[in-house]
Parts: sequence; structure tokens; C-alpha cells
Amino acid sequence: MQITSSKQTTLSLSTASLGDVLAINNLINKFAAKNLLLKRSIEDIRSDIDTFIIVRENPVVKTKTTTTIAQSRTPIVINDLHPARNKGVIIGCVSLYRYSSVLAEIRSLCVEEAYQGLGIARRLLEEAIVLARRLDIKQLLSFTVEAEQFFIKLGFTHVTKERLPGKVMKDCQKCPCYGNCSAKSYRLSL
Ligand SMILES: CC(C)(COP(=O)(O)OP(=O)(O)OC[C@H]1O[C@@H](n2cnc3c(N)ncnc32)[C@H](O)[C@@H]1OP(=O)(O)O)[C@@H](O)C(=O)NCCC(=O)NCCS
Repeated sequence: MQITSSKQTTLSLSTASLGDVLAINNLINKFAAKNLLLKRSIEDIRSDIDTFIIVRENPVVKTKTTTTIAQSRTPIVINDLHPARNKGVIIGCVSLYRYSSVLAEIRSLCVEEAYQGLGIARRLLEEAIVLARRLDIKQLLSFTVEAEQFFIKLGFTHVTKERLPGKVMKDCQKCPCYGNCSAKSYRLSL
């Protein structure tokens, strides 16, 4: 598929590898600096790297299997999930953090500002949901400061913090924002 635009690029969705830790850390912490995401350390991302799904922007390569995507306000199509093979710039990520065999959280979902509004976060979340279903997760949680409508559009419903499982609240107590948190919680039953 090819869409005409002055600036064309290809985007690919993949799992992350240890070589991506620094780039993921930089991306997440840009949003953490605006209090939109929780700051994550390099050590934390490294230990959770197998829970990350990423989107890269790659130089245009016109082959039969590559989808060319315009950097415009057009819905995008991204290659299917495959192990990271190339070294394009990481412009979006999400992490599926597991609390138990049936409960997980959508963490660190973010998309570089210049690429927002193209459906990239939707694609990342959909892929995280596929992964969660494969792992037999029954319930997904998310916490957000200003993207409530995003999660509602993707089928999540608001849940008050008082109704969150104890193990989630235990993690919350370790957070620097505990007691002064403006994030709302959402859940999705799978
Ligand atoms: C929230 C965020 C990930 C959305 O990324 P995105 O790639 O622009 O989202 P998409 O283009 O996939 O949006 C999918 C739908 O959600 C809507 N949407 C996206 N962000 C929204 C927001 N902040 N408020 C309301 N609606 C939003 C879009 O309009 C779109 O709706 P449509 O399908 O009807 O057109 C991005 O704004 C971001 O990185 N924010 C900072 C980090 C953050 O808040 N993360 C969420 C908590 S983990």
C-alpha cells in the first residue's frame, strides 16, 4: 500500500530487544517530564524489555512486503509483529506488565508527538491485547492523566482506585506520586 505525500516513511511494529532500552527510556521520559507518564529507569526497562512492543520509523524501502505510509493525518497500516530486525528510530511503545497470571497493566504507552493522531497507539494497544489474550490474561488495567478518551474508545471503562486489586495498590504505594496522583484508572475484561 502506498500513499502519496511529500514525506514518506515506513513504520514497523515489533517486539523490543536489549539494544532498544536507551531509546525506549528516552521516549518514555519525554512524557514523564510533562507528568503524562511515570518515569522509568534504564534498569527497570531493561528488566521488563520482553514486555515491550515498539513502533519504529524506518527509511523508505520499496519492496513487495513493505507498506509505505504517508506521514499525514491518514490512518496507517503497520507491518505485522515480527522480532526486531532493523534499526529505525523508535517513535512509539507500550509495555504489558503482569501482576499475576490473569491480571496485567498497559504501561508506558506513548507515541512521539509528531506522529500522534495516526492510529499508532491504537495499533500498539491492539497488539498488547492480542499478546494478553495469548497469555490468558483476563483483565487489563491502565492509568492515564489525560488520555481517558483514548482508552474509552478502545473499550476500557473507568474503575475507581478503591476497586483495584490489592496487589495493584501495593505497587501504587511505591510510586513517587502516591497520595498526589492525578491519573485515572481504567479496565478492560478480555
Ligand atoms: C495517548 C497517546 C498514546 C495516543 O497516541 P496516538 O497515536 O495519537 O493515538 P491514536 O492516533 O491511535 O488514537 C486513537 C483514537 O484515540 C483518540 N485519542 C488519542 N489520544 C487522545 C487523547 N489524549 N484524548 C482523547 N482522544 C484521544 C484519537 O483521536 C483516535 O480516535 P479516532 O479513532 O476516533 O480517530 C499519545 O497522545 C501519547 O503518547 N500521550 C502521552 C502519554 C500518555 O498519556 N499515555 C497514556 C497512558 S499509558
